[in-house]
Amino acid sequence: MSNPIWSKPGATGADEEVQAFLAGEDVLLDRHLFAFDIAATRAHAGALKSAGILSAREYDALDIGLAELGAAAEQGLFELGPPHEDGHSAIEAFLTERLGDVGRKVHTGRSRNDQVQVATRLYMRDRLEALAALCIGIATELLARADADGDLPMPGYTHIQRAVPSSVGLWMAGLGEAFTDIAELALLTRGWMNTNPLGTAAGYGVNLPLDRDATTVELGFDRMQVNPMYAQNSRGRFELQALGVLAQATLEARRLAWDLSLFNTEEFGFVRMPDRYTTGSSIMPNKRNPDVVELLRGMHGAVQGALAELQAVISLPSGYQRDLQATKGPLIRAFEGGLQGLGLVPGLVAGIEFDAEAMREAIAPHMHATDVAIERARDGLPFREAYQTPPDPVDLARREPDASLEARVSPGACADLRLPELNARLEEIRGLVDDLPGTG
Ligand code: ARG
Repeated sequence: MSNPIWSKPGATGADEEVQAFLAGEDVLLDRHLFAFDIAATRAHAGALKSAGILSAREYDALDIGLAELGAAAEQGLFELGPPHEDGHSAIEAFLTERLGDVGRKVHTGRSRNDQVQVATRLYMRDRLEALAALCIGIATELLARADADGDLPMPGYTHIQRAVPSSVGLWMAGLGEAFTDIAELALLTRGWMNTNPLGTAAGYGVNLPLDRDATTVELGFDRMQVNPMYAQNSRGRFELQALGVLAQATLEARRLAWDLSLFNTEEFGFVRMPDRYTTGSSIMPNKRNPDVVELLRGMHGAVQGALAELQAVISLPSGYQRDLQATKGPLIRAFEGGLQGLGLVPGLVAGIEFDAEAMREAIAPHMHATDVAIERARDGLPFREAYQTPPDPVDLARREPDASLEARVSPGACADLRLPELNARLEEIRGLVDDLPGTG
């Protein structure tokens, strides 16, 4: 192992075994933060220049060195991992090797504590933007299916028991509205946490006039996270909030996956999944399994686990503690896995095939009973009496699902899905996501 950046001449520190434990998977997780750490290091170098610590020439050298490192990492020519303790040490080691003393100046007035905070903040901003865009993509497909196949009747269930006639439109538009709401929540959360912790050092500030306003602007933050102790104490809590939004999305994806896996069974037979999303069995030649949908359903469990893990870790007093390093794993694993899974949902939704006949046949005569009771009430009977009077079985058997759907005029229901309204809201949020400046 190379000497850690915190080693001092004459002092013995961590040996290899301990070093390996300190780095753990942390340095591997830092691969996801590396580009953001490099961008924030450039911003910090700018603050050092305006504070008179770096000359213009030294700043320029760092700027070029950082660009080189960023490009090398992107092309796979520089691989983060042991012997580096973490991404932060790796950046400083690279700059020192390339530029000598200039590299050894870059950490002036900075701690790895604010360094990891700012990199993580930029990572979360980036992933929340990706999440918002994915939710918009999912909602777009759902609303498109509601438009294209919306009139197809299908049973509406409560307690997984046949309840009233419903439609594909009602089902798809409901999920579409949900993902629109989650896209908006991702955007709002992005704004809420788009604040700059850089320049707070170890959590107590420094005796240098660091231009934190300038780094705030350079990194595209909306404002400065002012109090240095608060900047440290917010670690983990912001992660919890970001994961909370991801959990909203994976929860709704789980519902969709549940519906599909149920409706895909031979017992229901309402939907067929696109071949791309099914797998064969290794032993049963007759089978085609909905594995993708099942993994999508299971995905939320991992996010829930990550939330619990985070909550357990951040039971800490004020100030930085190394425990906080353990907030990285749940955050990054949940986001990387979650976004990958959610990325498959638009194609899945677009490729579902509906069996119109099977869905129609599953609408049993008794499911019209609610319509009958309400019709009677509309004719003047008190509803409770209408409810208690048994419907005429001949009347029930004669009723058509389509007529029931056409009569369902309450706003948002089958006869009035309000797709233009739902699409307009989706477009409004899509516009906000498209207008984001993009992560530096
Ligand atoms: N890898 C560390 C983390 O994620 C970096 C910060 C180390 N800070 C310290 N004071 N030891 O927390």
